[in-house]
Amino acid sequence: MRIVLFGPPGAGKGTQAQRIAAAYGIPHISTGDMLRQAVAAGSPLGLQVQEILERGHLVPDELIGEVIADRISQPDAAGGFLLDGFPRTVPQVAILERALGAKQLDRVVMLVVPDAVVEARILGRAQASAGVEGGAARADDRIETIRERLRVYKQQTEPVAEVYRQKGLLAEVDGTGTIDEVFGLVIGILGGARG
Ligand code: AP5
Ligand code: MG
Repeated sequence: MRIVLFGPPGAGKGTQAQRIAAAYGIPHISTGDMLRQAVAAGSPLGLQVQEILERGHLVPDELIGEVIADRISQPDAAGGFLLDGFPRTVPQVAILERALGAKQLDRVVMLVVPDAVVEARILGRAQASAGVEGGAARADDRIETIRERLRVYKQQTEPVAEVYRQKGLLAEVDGTGTIDEVFGLVIGILGGARG
């Protein structure tokens, strides 16, 4: 199963992706997590993207395209994967298609959550991590940066939904319920089939 999980910052992509990946036995591939790991490691990629992430902007398509093409060519992704945070521009849709070659996506699941709810969720996550001993809040979880991420989402990422709608792949899910409720809706769409 090859799935894209789509939606605004704070929609619950990472939260649901972990569960979906476990349920279907496929790797959870989060471009945001990969970029944050690169920043934490101080790798050449990390040094290149650190400031972009802190501002809530998108890293260049070609750069993230290389990262994702390399990741989905790994053996663990041969039988399927769940993408969280990619593609998030229209050019990235084409980059993904090229990386997939003859393989096809099965579904693009979009978590639909209003702005006020996503702002509250991200601020809640920032506060929760600040309260954990040794926990560090994400550098982009400040209110100004959250709003910038939402603005960037509407301008550059939302058009991706239309592209997948026209391909007949998009399924919209109400992401405002509890974590269990949203997971139930997603599983209902993806079906019981594993692998
Ligand atoms: P990325 O890491 O993808 O961040 P994001 O899209 O802004 O989304 P978040 O990770 O903040 O939210 P989420 O939807 O995963 O929600 P979560 O499950 O955490 O990207 C970060 C940056 O990397 C980008 O800004 C960009 O710079 C760069 N980047 C990444 N991919 C890129 C690409 N393809 N191209 C270019 N640049 C790229 O949930 C949020 C909170 O809500 C949590 O606290 C959670 O516990 C809570 N929550 C979740 N579900 C529920 C629920 N149902 N009810 C109540 N609370 C809930
Ligand atoms: Mg996430």
